Amino acid sequence: MHPVLQQILNAFEHQGAAQYGQEAVTQLQHALQCAQLAKDSGASNQLIVAALLHDIGHILETSPIPTSCEQNLDDKHEAIGYHFLLQHFGAAVADPVRLHVLAKRYLCTKNSAYEAKLSPTSRKSYYDQGGQMSVTEVTEFEREPYCQAALQLRIWDDTAKDPDAMTQSIVDFLPYLESAVERVGGED
Ligand SMILES: [Fe+2]
Repeated sequence: MHPVLQQILNAFEHQGAAQYGQEAVTQLQHALQCAQLAKDSGASNQLIVAALLHDIGHILETSPIPTSCEQNLDDKHEAIGYHFLLQHFGAAVADPVRLHVLAKRYLCTKNSAYEAKLSPTSRKSYYDQGGQMSVTEVTEFEREPYCQAALQLRIWDDTAKDPDAMTQSIVDFLPYLESAVERVGGED
């Protein structure tokens, strides 16, 4: 197995059972539900991997998830995940992850009903992360090559909080991870 895939499996083994912030699912349940929603939507291999690993910044233990809404929830985990994923999986995986926080701000800015549907924790982090976007921020986000992928990922992220949802296991998603790692390896 590629060493980075073993690192990812180990990280989920150590951190996956932890609660996903204040939500009713674990980190692993949340990641698998997000990946399953991507797969069931017919997303590309790389976007399925982005969905599975979008919170890897928390799971690598370099940025533990805040445990209380009293804390500032803007922990920049998307930047930690981005740098890790860019190195091993390339921009098609890393960029939607980098943009998934901005994508929430974009969706809430464009549609107040989206904000109303957020969980209390996600609404708190929305404000900690900057809240409503300015016109300039909206334009800059729309210019991002992976803006549509990031918006799709965000909607799955906000849906993947169902304690009763059935998903495939992380081992079932290994072929997607292997293919995405090999693709970047072949380009180098
Ligand atoms: Fe998430």
